[in-house]
Amino acid sequence: MSRGPFVTPKLALVMVGLPARGKTYTAQKLSRYLAWLGHRTRIFNLGEYRRAKLGPSAPNEFFNPDNPEGRRVRLELAMAAIDDVCAWFGKEGDVAILDATNSSRERRQFVQARFDSEGIQVLFVEVLCDDSEMIEANIRQTKLASPDYAGIDADEAVRDFRARIAHYERVYEAIGEDEASYIKLVDVGRQVVVNRVDSHLGGRLVSFLMKLHINPRPILLTRHGESEFNIRALIGGDPPLSALGRGYGRALGDYLREEFDGEDSPEIWTSALERTGETASFFSDDTVVLRQLDEIDAGICDGLSYEEIAARMPLEFGARARDKLRYRYPRGESYVDVINRLEPVIVELERQRRPVVVVAHQAVIRALYAYFRELPREACPHQSIPLHTVIKLTPGPYGCAEERIDLIEQARNRAN
Ligand code: SIN
Repeated sequence: MSRGPFVTPKLALVMVGLPARGKTYTAQKLSRYLAWLGHRTRIFNLGEYRRAKLGPSAPNEFFNPDNPEGRRVRLELAMAAIDDVCAWFGKEGDVAILDATNSSRERRQFVQARFDSEGIQVLFVEVLCDDSEMIEANIRQTKLASPDYAGIDADEAVRDFRARIAHYERVYEAIGEDEASYIKLVDVGRQVVVNRVDSHLGGRLVSFLMKLHINPRPILLTRHGESEFNIRALIGGDPPLSALGRGYGRALGDYLREEFDGEDSPEIWTSALERTGETASFFSDDTVVLRQLDEIDAGICDGLSYEEIAARMPLEFGARARDKLRYRYPRGESYVDVINRLEPVIVELERQRRPVVVVAHQAVIRALYAYFRELPREACPHQSIPLHTVIKLTPGPYGCAEERIDLIEQARNRAN
């Protein structure tokens, strides 16, 4: 991260919680959010350290707190992971996520002391869940697919995993107020308890974690229909739709009416520019207009074609080609700027339980798409986001499904 008032100290997010409570899910969400914002983030998963040392599976007896050999090896593995976190901070890391149970006060004190001695800030993230249905779903959907139980009969695997949980339950100590900085998440967002979190980034993580839920609902991303500027290959501006673009608006309206027939009607979010409002108007005038969804500001290049930019400003053109993510148009924006201004939109999209249709622009859709598809930031400006296509994303607890609906033919048929 560049130096500045919002500089991120080296931060270790230390997960706490019994097995099958959603720690890994939460760690992955945090990692994706932080990486999308530009923090070099890495998850260190203790289960992977165990598998690397002991092979793919470990019987529940290994986790029995009365098994001294198991306790010794587990401490050794935790120390190896913490050493790797420290080494990684020494090289390049901004945020490390230690994905492990860290279930006793003694273990957390050990982790805290080690990171303190390296000048690394620690924020514990405890995931608590008493909802037996959620735990059962987690066991069946993630643990059975884990390498720990590859080739093992499903019922036997569930039995063994429950025995593993029982070993941890015997010694589990929820994190106490006097202990540390922490965020406690109870039953996936039903309650969030925050203790001694005062950094800028910590505050953002609290706000992000408060919005998370696991109810699947679709998010539909689309660019506006073809505009008068698209026909002339000009960038930026605030042009109206072309005839073909209006045809897309109609096709999109029909598609949405069919898709959400009798179901939860979606919220429609558009930018503040004419072409997105016009596209959405064929479905509804009841839209949420968000300036954050406006197209990347091309500054002094607004209203020009790429050929004109190359001819008149070859240095700018070359600089953009070399680093499309960070290149900032003179008096305009870069993709990184666009990502930063979209952060509240991402947090709101995470919070929504109703379907949302986002009608926006190429750079903006690329940035949103990169977040949901967990793409590296460098790949964001190079995603193919064609006109007249709906990208339907369905984020769920175990990843984000994608479907592309090509409405090009319908748009042609509906153009006047
Ligand atoms: C594991 O070995 O799967 C995790 C160990 C732990 O975090 O307690």
